Amino acid sequence: MIASPQPPAPSPRLPIIAIDGPSGVGKSTLSKLLASELGYINLDTGAMYRTVALAAERHGIDLDDAAALGRLANAVVIDFARKAGSEQVLLDGADVSAAIRTPEISLLTSKVSACPAVREAMVRRQRELGARGGFVLEGRDIGTVVFPDAEVKFFLVASAEERGRRRFLELQAKGVGVDLAKTVAEVEARDAADSGRAHSPLRRADDAVTIDTTARGIDQILAEMLTIVRSRQGVS
Ligand code: C5P
Repeated sequence: MIASPQPPAPSPRLPIIAIDGPSGVGKSTLSKLLASELGYINLDTGAMYRTVALAAERHGIDLDDAAALGRLANAVVIDFARKAGSEQVLLDGADVSAAIRTPEISLLTSKVSACPAVREAMVRRQRELGARGGFVLEGRDIGTVVFPDAEVKFFLVASAEERGRRRFLELQAKGVGVDLAKTVAEVEARDAADSGRAHSPLRRADDAVTIDTTARGIDQILAEMLTIVRSRQGVS
């Protein structure tokens, strides 16, 4: 008897590392460094929601029109590219890296990202992108919704004052005229909106490791994260 050929076993995916937390806790910096140390790909999911918000603004879409927002989120082409050593976010092929980081777009993004149809479109893309693993994804719902089976989950926290101060310095360095008290208030308002929304609110996954980044240096936190990642089975 000739044995019928067995279909090849699906190759196991590489690990996924989820980094969630409110704005200004250091997610982007640590996510990039961690990905680079591990040879993984870094995915900034906040940039994806920001890009949809920018597209909504440019198309003059009414933010209460959930159907139009959903159509837009499914239609826009969001890409990430590297040029002259810096990462670029592309909307339909055009570089929008700076345009998506203004305080106005930050606030708009919190509104747009509360729309279930937008979230469905983004989560689908994030799952497609990360399907083979070997990714560090940073956002608000990675460990709870996008990849609840991620091998390692971090939840970063820091005081509101410190987060607002970091955002303030970041914007100031980019030449954006900002006020410290106003920036702290905006960061708090955005976090309240992200935590209070009905669909996929910002929430710590039960199995996430919480790290407070308030008064610690990046190197020290990165070393702690790497130790945790390497102690998990299957993560190199
Ligand atoms: O991380 P970043 O500050 O760029 O995120 C911008 C906004 O995008 C957040 O305030 C939040 O409203 C939304 N977001 C989200 N889910 C994610 C990532 C970001 O709702 N996974």
